[in-house]
Amino acid sequence: MPIEVLGPAGTIVSTSFNVPSTSLQNVTINRLWLQIHALNYADKGSVQINNGAWINLNNTTALVQGNAARYGGIGGPMATLKMTVAIPSNLLMAGQNVIRFRFNRTDGVSMGFRVLRFNFMTTTGQMILPATAFQWEDPSTWQPPFSDITNITTGERLWRTASLIKSPLSNTRILARCTDCHAQDGRDLKYFNYSNRAIIERSRFHGLTTTQGMQIASYIRTRNVPNPGRPWNPPYQPGPGLDSKPVSEWAAGAGIDWVLDRDIDALPYIFPNGIAQETVATTGNLNVREIPIAMQLPDWNQWLPKIHPKDAFGTAFINHNLNKKYAGEGTGSATWNLRARLTSSTSLRYVVLPVFQGQSQFEVELGDWRTERTRLIPAQFSFQSREDSERVYGTALWQLVKTWEMMQEFNLEGFGLILYGPQAEARTWYTDMAFMASPFMLKIPNSHLGIGGNALSNEYLSNAWYQLQLVLNHSNRRPFNTYPIDWAYVYGKNKDLFERSRDPQIMRHLIWLIKAFQTFDNGIGPENQFSGWRPQWSADVNTLVHWNFLPMWRDVPAQTRAQIMQVMLRCWLQKSREFLPGQYYAGKVADPTQAPRAFYDGPLGNKMMWMIPQFRTAGVDGQLLNEVADWGQTLYPLGDWASLKR
Ligand code: HEC
Repeated sequence: MPIEVLGPAGTIVSTSFNVPSTSLQNVTINRLWLQIHALNYADKGSVQINNGAWINLNNTTALVQGNAARYGGIGGPMATLKMTVAIPSNLLMAGQNVIRFRFNRTDGVSMGFRVLRFNFMTTTGQMILPATAFQWEDPSTWQPPFSDITNITTGERLWRTASLIKSPLSNTRILARCTDCHAQDGRDLKYFNYSNRAIIERSRFHGLTTTQGMQIASYIRTRNVPNPGRPWNPPYQPGPGLDSKPVSEWAAGAGIDWVLDRDIDALPYIFPNGIAQETVATTGNLNVREIPIAMQLPDWNQWLPKIHPKDAFGTAFINHNLNKKYAGEGTGSATWNLRARLTSSTSLRYVVLPVFQGQSQFEVELGDWRTERTRLIPAQFSFQSREDSERVYGTALWQLVKTWEMMQEFNLEGFGLILYGPQAEARTWYTDMAFMASPFMLKIPNSHLGIGGNALSNEYLSNAWYQLQLVLNHSNRRPFNTYPIDWAYVYGKNKDLFERSRDPQIMRHLIWLIKAFQTFDNGIGPENQFSGWRPQWSADVNTLVHWNFLPMWRDVPAQTRAQIMQVMLRCWLQKSREFLPGQYYAGKVADPTQAPRAFYDGPLGNKMMWMIPQFRTAGVDGQLLNEVADWGQTLYPLGDWASLKR
């Protein structure tokens, strides 16, 4: 395993397996169970068992498991899916059997899929094949197709300079080379362990010959860079134990098996010691790299731009400072570029020295590089077609991939503590590039013009890139307004996603809220409305009981829900009360001349008046709610807080 069904349309890959006759006694087998990477559109693949009929895989023939079904299943945004397929009960035989997979057609982007696991299920849900029946390929044993230097150097030259076609569906020549869309030196293909077969077939996909593909594969295979990943393991996917591996393995993620099937499964990871106050304390540091979530982050294929900005915008991009500031190409006026700076000094000196000068130059420059993009693609860009959406999205993804490239190449992910001090994360990025890859931030419409061709996929991806941003950089307790995260947008987007999917992600929301508590407990008070404590915005506990969010608690037992609300609210109140009313007035968080009225939105006073009875109904302790009302009284003397006390 895996079975790589990669190549031109019609490619068939088969494997044989043995079924002991004892396994077939007294049982009826009526389902095939599959886990497949990149089965991302209907009828992309088919399966055949022995001499049975070919079965096309789509949402009618296959029942997608876990929450992936709620996001569109086959054709949805999750790259790896588990599913069952009904099969005739007489197909399996004692002894040797054959299973065949066929790649039916390309959509102009993909060249196949990977079967990670398969099995057969009885009517009672028992699996027939033992885990020992499968052998996993070990990438550390892979050899380059050619080991001589001439072919390897030719491979590198092709990687950097060969002229390519877009896909087998379109012979149009594109400006981008392999090096442009991928990490410049191809390390991504090595890092995520794409097989020789994948690299060769992908080269053919872009119009090169098999020999040329073998030369490129030889170049990639002989790159001396870390290779802990696999194509189906989403980059940076959170999971226990990730931090104890070297920082160079962080990007490989915790593995696809750490993607939870249900949001509620995250509960014991968020609260390992029961629903405790310390877990949510603003002074704490919840480890968002290690708490698994029921959201599959985009896989590496989804990071890669389908349309490179050179092909999307031509010379407007090539001669733009966005391009100039990456590696110095084009006629842009910028006098510096990121790669030259990183190459000319050692990365350690480059990142650390400026700190002594009082600022983090690297962060500033990457941020600057981001604003260049908004100059190239103005906010009023109008999206007329899916192609337009991919042009804009591709530009954001290109920046993200290039940022990853520099992070890896110059080993920049491990400087959090040095840059930001002990309150920071040991591993971090220094920019908001993932947040800014969200289709929502790019103003890509939530419609058939959206990424993935529908509103639900587009919305999912908006949330998924936000989630990645949380993992990569939530500011290390140095937030500035909406940089690097616009917290209120995040809560709104989770709500929007729920409205479309009905998949409740309240645990994921809790992770965000706890992290917001901690991010904004940074020594700065509410008088500073950009970086200080913001009880009505980033730390908006009202979202716990807001009618848009209440249904998301569906899978949480009422008592647990009340306990969680209780510790969150207590923590919020404790922190909020540390500051004087005057500080809130100075920061325009509250206004003493206002008489607040209970309303789910608007100023802090309104939200507080609205939420007190909601929390009471949900079972939160009355004493705590009285304290919230008392604090409200000090902030808003004109409000009728007494009526809210019990
Ligand atoms: C226009 C940007 C672009 C260029 C140029 C490009 N790629 Fe890619 N590459 C992508 C995208 C996007 C994907 C993901 C495709 C998908 O989702 O199936 C990808 C995927 C791949 C994969 C994994 C395929 C799979 O099915 O898992 C390999 C291997 C690869 N590219 C190699 C290459 C090689 C070699 C070249 C040059 C010959 C190249 N790419 C040129 C954008 C590009």
